[in-house]
Amino acid sequence: MASGSTEHKPAWTPDRIFGFADSQVQGKALADLLGASFEIVDVHYFPDSECRVQLRGHAHRPAIYRPLHIPNAKLIEVILAASVLRDDGAKDIGLIAPYLPYMRQDIAFRPGEAVSQRVIGKLLAAHFDRFVSVDPHLHRTPTLDGVFGGKPSLALTGAPAMVQHLRDRNVSDNVLILGPDEESEPIVKAVAAPLDLPWALAKKVRKGDRDVQIALPEDVPLNRRSVIIVDDVISSGTTVITLTRAVRDLGAKTVDVYTTHALYDDRTADSFSMAGIRRVVSCDGIPHRSNDMSVAKIIADGLLACP
Ligand code: R5P
Repeated sequence: MASGSTEHKPAWTPDRIFGFADSQVQGKALADLLGASFEIVDVHYFPDSECRVQLRGHAHRPAIYRPLHIPNAKLIEVILAASVLRDDGAKDIGLIAPYLPYMRQDIAFRPGEAVSQRVIGKLLAAHFDRFVSVDPHLHRTPTLDGVFGGKPSLALTGAPAMVQHLRDRNVSDNVLILGPDEESEPIVKAVAAPLDLPWALAKKVRKGDRDVQIALPEDVPLNRRSVIIVDDVISSGTTVITLTRAVRDLGAKTVDVYTTHALYDDRTADSFSMAGIRRVVSCDGIPHRSNDMSVAKIIADGLLACP
């Protein structure tokens, strides 16, 4: 889980952002907020599935913007894009990836497993000089620069956007902010504290990709209470569905969900309604139908706040 700020802050803003068609709106919005220019990276796929990447224009402080969900092809594309900037003489290339993939496998949980976080971190650190992300899933590696060999890294959080979203809607004081597990504590507290709302954490044991067991804290009254679940990422949706059923069984009045990264598909969204989730609100770092908070603002505010 990310904290609101981290070590080795960059004190850096790009003068040109290179983005991709799948996240053009957010990349352009970020460039506008930072007073940078924006250029689309042209990606051509050959019949054999290899890609050709082409960038136009020169930059002194370039950054590549791309959320790296569905990551495998995107990782190759951003690395090829960085190589063009390097060949053009850039000494300091930023990667602004609102979503960073492969962060959860930070150890070998079973013998023989690759430690994906370490491998992908090393790969990206060989091509980029600084990193910005939003709620990267940091657990056993406590800070983002630890993923990237000590290179300047800024881990931002979607929490202030969630707070603002709730304030704008006059969130009631009958609300409990609930995290699904201990790892969600920083983001849960960062939402609850400024709103002066009570918060609690459930305990989660993951048995499989779509199989989790959740135990609620015993001393939290849920009857007739509105619950807002806060988590950094929703992937299969199993966590929030299981948690929602548990709080509904104890009489929760409504359940809304706030997340930074929404990765789930439309079928899962239907299951959310059936489980009793009233609404999911996410940041638009990963373009998704639940988006209602601006990642460009989170990143621009974060970069501009650096001394
Ligand atoms: C877990 O460590 C994360 O914070 C999320 O709770 C988790 O990744 C959600 O996954 P899913 O939606 O597949 O249950």
